[in-house]
Amino acid sequence: MQIAIIGQGYVGLTLTSGALSANHDVIGVDTSESLVQNLNKGISHIEGIANHVLQEGIKQGKFKASSDFSEIRSAEIVIIAVPTPLDSEGNPDTTILESAVSSIASNLSEGALVINESTSYIGTLRKVIAQPIMARNSKISDFAVSPERVDPGNKEFGAKNTSRLVGGIDEKATERASAFYSTFCDHVVKVSSPEVAEAAKLLENTFRFVNIGFINEFTQIMNALQIPASEVISAAATKPYGFIPFFPNVGIGGHCIPVDPLYLQKNAQDVNNSSKYIETSEAQNHLMPKYSVERLEKLFGSLKGKKVLVVGISYKPDIADTRESPAQAVMEHLKARKAEVFWHDPLIANFEGQSSSRVSGEYDLALVLVKHQSLDMSAWRGGPIYCVNPIDSHRDWIPILGSSGR
Ligand SMILES: NC(=O)c1ccc[n+]([C@@H]2O[C@H](COP(=O)([O-])OP(=O)(O)OC[C@H]3O[C@@H](n4cnc5c(N)ncnc54)[C@H](O)[C@@H]3O)[C@@H](O)[C@H]2O)c1
Repeated sequence: MQIAIIGQGYVGLTLTSGALSANHDVIGVDTSESLVQNLNKGISHIEGIANHVLQEGIKQGKFKASSDFSEIRSAEIVIIAVPTPLDSEGNPDTTILESAVSSIASNLSEGALVINESTSYIGTLRKVIAQPIMARNSKISDFAVSPERVDPGNKEFGAKNTSRLVGGIDEKATERASAFYSTFCDHVVKVSSPEVAEAAKLLENTFRFVNIGFINEFTQIMNALQIPASEVISAAATKPYGFIPFFPNVGIGGHCIPVDPLYLQKNAQDVNNSSKYIETSEAQNHLMPKYSVERLEKLFGSLKGKKVLVVGISYKPDIADTRESPAQAVMEHLKARKAEVFWHDPLIANFEGQSSSRVSGEYDLALVLVKHQSLDMSAWRGGPIYCVNPIDSHRDWIPILGSSGR
């Protein structure tokens, strides 16, 4: 099949790789000229997508990247995978999605199927995608949603062995989308409407968001009681059913978990329904950077004038993605306590105009937020090393959350 994928980031490039594996022809459209140039040289920017996958596609004439939307004219299927962030006030912001829709609308060929993989509020396919496209191009009537479930860096579950949800605007759209995904996904699950698929994606991520908020609160209670929360969680996890362990952390980050529940909240507001679990978890998760720094100060002593190396500033291990990472808030809270703050991350060269510092002997303490596999602390000659996530605890590193110290 001739496939066009709009947006060649984490989701779009992962899909490109999946579609190439099934021998489809892929046009990857992206507004970033530099990204397009690199992709056309066969250089991937996503962990888990090897350069040779793109290079082989280019060599066989099956893959091309472009920033020219007219290139999608030959596509039977056009899939949208563009960012759906929050605006400066923390509200859902679909302007990028609307812009992508506007760019594709006049370039779609008769009979093209349009699929949305971007995460958004329930009703987005019909309101933000199908209606404006049909208003401009009456030859397009097939639309579907297939929420992406990619977990960047996950070596166990990828596009092939993670079930795919597909919900079309009608049976024909569902069948067409399902036929496409079945060419490279082991298990495609058809649902009765696009709204069910959209809501399922929001449920999955809100479930994690709420449980992370709860375990962060639970940990604070255990810390106050001087009971090691991480041991309690591991003990509870020996129950073979009805319990899924979550571990406390410095906050939540990335493009999905902190963002998607607020899209669900918008749906709740639109129908005057409460969303108290989302509100409470949001507040709890945002408290964690401050709480973590307070905990560090309780265990180490005053941070005033201390040289602190914050280690691992991306939002999760083995990923160079700093979007919504709580590292920024942690550094601000350290500075508010008059600490001299530096950071080190083996995967990130620059962040907010500052470069990664070397691991060395000149610091009073290190605070590990995220432990990448490539992290090498062997040159460390400074003071104690603390870590926030108890499951990252490592030899003589001192876990500041979930340990028994008050
Ligand atoms: N990253 C994840 O783990 C993940 C998982 C599931 C779902 N999602 C969802 O998928 C969507 C995309 O996320 P992502 O992580 O791939 O984002 P990303 O930032 O990694 O990639 C998005 C790409 O879209 C491009 N772009 C921006 N505006 C464009 C436009 N108007 N036309 C064409 N290209 C444009 C950007 O240059 C970028 O390369 C979001 O809705 C996100 O919530 C992400």
